[in-house]
Amino acid sequence: MKRIIVLIAAMAVFACSGKSNQSTNMTDKGITVKHYGTLANGDSVTSYTLKNAKGMEVEIIDLGGTIVRWTAPDKNGKFDDITLGVSDPKVYFGPARYLGALIGRFGNRIAKGKFSIDGTEYTLAKNNGPNSLHGGRSGFNAKIWNVETKGGSEPSLKLSLLSKDGDEGYPGNLNVEVIYTLSKDNSLKIDYKATTDKKTVINLTNHAYFNLKGEGNGDILDHELQMAAGKFLPVDAGLIPTGELKDVKGTPFDFLTSHKIGDKINETSDNQIKLGGGYDHCWVFDDASDKLKAVAKVYEPASGRTMEVFTTEPAVQFYTGNFLDGKAVGKTGKKYEYRYGFCLETQHFPDSPNQSAFPTTLLKPGETYHTTTVYKFGVK
Ligand code: BGC
Repeated sequence: MKRIIVLIAAMAVFACSGKSNQSTNMTDKGITVKHYGTLANGDSVTSYTLKNAKGMEVEIIDLGGTIVRWTAPDKNGKFDDITLGVSDPKVYFGPARYLGALIGRFGNRIAKGKFSIDGTEYTLAKNNGPNSLHGGRSGFNAKIWNVETKGGSEPSLKLSLLSKDGDEGYPGNLNVEVIYTLSKDNSLKIDYKATTDKKTVINLTNHAYFNLKGEGNGDILDHELQMAAGKFLPVDAGLIPTGELKDVKGTPFDFLTSHKIGDKINETSDNQIKLGGGYDHCWVFDDASDKLKAVAKVYEPASGRTMEVFTTEPAVQFYTGNFLDGKAVGKTGKKYEYRYGFCLETQHFPDSPNQSAFPTTLLKPGETYHTTTVYKFGVK
């Protein structure tokens, strides 16, 4: 009953965009809707483009709540698409898997695809060697979400999904809601909310790959990065955290002051660089609070573009596209080669359900999971 009331209240501000609207181009103020493509099973995929007064556009599809295109101005005011994405949605089930998508129920890895709550063991799909990655075989990235639009000078989309009890092995009916809002100041806010009817674990994130030179325009090693994180989580050969929180000082993992991503990415004398094939690790923020805080800054010297990240989360997976291999061909025909994009996936620590010293990822009935992350673009 409570849910119905909440839904009716929400419908008053968000316009429902049912499948019936999808063949016709519908424009809510600041939002353009169009047919994006068709999946192998015949499902139609719809795209929603949010646009602000500065001209920034963020295009999101209902498949996986995936960000497929995102334009940002350079130092001369020229807009380029700075995120990796593909034009045929079927490719999101192949080489473009996870690019720009919402990730759930559990972003990152859970060791051996197993965890226990109150003595009951749950078994997940193992889709990454012996481990479960990004919610399993058919995570939130592979689902078609319900979408409601809210036009205006700060247009937003509300995406929702019911992940049923037992989905990919996780307990509890989980109601998930993600709101994307494009602000006037060229920032995209992502608000994640969820409730459950049984104790479960949750770790939602977005898996956008960025290249501030423009998608497909070379690797990201010349981007400069700074992160407010004095510690990171060393991993084992399966990229599962060992449990140690290691000081970044004196290691290639030190981004406390800004420097090029490529400076030490190939220092394989460092065992963690070797295990990650570069950077594929979780950094722990110095500010452990759940306030929205500035945690990372990226600067790309040729375009002058900057991106700042703010989050309520305690950590971020910084991944340098070490598994990109040119098999995914982007929307403008360019191959996404090795390290052509980087991800800053804000989140809780990987494998938290099995590591009691890590901040908890348990969600109980009656509680509301709520996290926020903001990506803000500028120039320098
Ligand atoms: C993981 C990588 C993985 C990638 C898949 C990242 O979050 O840390 O190891 O290959 O996602 O896109």
